[in-house]
Amino acid sequence: MSLTILIVDDEENFRENTATYLAGKGYEVIGVGTLEEAREHVIKGSAELVLLDVQLPDGYGPNLLFETANLPYRPPIILMTAYGDIEMAVDAMKNGAHDFLTKPIQFIQLEKSIQRASEIVTMRRELMHLRQTQKTKAFVTGKSPHVQKVLAQAQRAAAVSASVLITGETGTGKEVLAKFIHQSGPRASKPFIDINCAAIQHTMLEAELFGYEAGAFTGAERKKHGLMEVADGGVLFLDEISSMALDIQAKVLRALEERAFRRVGGTTSIHVDVQILAASNRDLKAMIKEGNFREDLYYRLKVVDLHLVPLRERKEDIPELVGFFLKQLNRDNGMNVRDVTPRAMEALTAYRWPGNIRELYNTMQRAMLFCNGEVIDLPDLPDLT
Ligand SMILES: Nc1ncnc2c1ncn2[C@@H]1O[C@H](COP(=O)(O)OP(=O)(O)OP(=O)(O)O)[C@@H](O)[C@H]1O
Ligand SMILES: [Mg+2]
Repeated sequence: MSLTILIVDDEENFRENTATYLAGKGYEVIGVGTLEEAREHVIKGSAELVLLDVQLPDGYGPNLLFETANLPYRPPIILMTAYGDIEMAVDAMKNGAHDFLTKPIQFIQLEKSIQRASEIVTMRRELMHLRQTQKTKAFVTGKSPHVQKVLAQAQRAAAVSASVLITGETGTGKEVLAKFIHQSGPRASKPFIDINCAAIQHTMLEAELFGYEAGAFTGAERKKHGLMEVADGGVLFLDEISSMALDIQAKVLRALEERAFRRVGGTTSIHVDVQILAASNRDLKAMIKEGNFREDLYYRLKVVDLHLVPLRERKEDIPELVGFFLKQLNRDNGMNVRDVTPRAMEALTAYRWPGNIRELYNTMQRAMLFCNGEVIDLPDLPDLT
């Protein structure tokens, strides 16, 4: 994981040696010699972890703990105390310091402490994103051999972290399948980050994906991590990829090929290990012909190609989906609808479902509210012709 460490120490030699050591371990390092500069970086959000000396030319280091206590994104602070100054160290820990190390600093111990802190940083990054995304849903296959085959391929792709392109009409379950892939592979405990390329302005998509440095453009007051970085070790789901502008497509392709990218306004190359899943309900091949989608990106994405057929072509799965939604909706809404009458099931199976599984789900939800509370019958359904 890339992590930016701020070293605050007025001893230039110490800063340089430590910076060299940490850079060698793959960390990004900023070095400053005063409390004032440290404060500025922490408030701007350019540091994710702070190594803080106690006696600084312009003040007492641990004051930074108080000054930044109310920031929503305060980085973990590791205090570097003089040998024997236990009392001060204990005080600092009480005031929210992450750890303290006694000088002279042992690099091995420093690294251990940084690793513990970086777990917190990773969790914060994930949490911020998790708060915005909903819970994972189960993937129902049913009896159709088609979907069973898709599922088996999805599991193989998950096992080897292959890039996957998921296609299918609206509501066929592309997003549910992407989450299933994440859940069934070795990356299940790592983040699942999704981004809907159609819902984000073209100009903002690059910044969302790759992040930016403070000052990269008007409004970029503090550094922001892109979703590529947040997804490190896990899965990035590029939903509605057909809406991605051509210039961003080129940048995504480069990031995929080099497994690295730069933040907007940044100069350092950031390495990530991300499995890419993409979904589209438009015909990307036709878009390539029209010059609206890059052919090289298309082939880079579809290492594994999973197509979900419309529900009308897998009608045999409708009873199982209906049963699944009954259970799910009963549980979520505290209801107790037991069943669907045979004639209602017949109507559900006969319908063409232009909105596919999403439409079936919405229909079930409505029917459960309208039925007598026990069974769903024909009059509880909308006109399915
Ligand atoms: N295999 C499945 N098992 C259970 N529920 C499913 C399944 N597929 C789809 N659903 C239901 O249908 C809804 C729509 O699925 P999803 O959002 O994955 O569709 P989509 O293909 O991404 O559609 P769109 O192209 O409109 O974004 C889901 O919220 C879920 O309730
Ligand atoms: Mg979708």
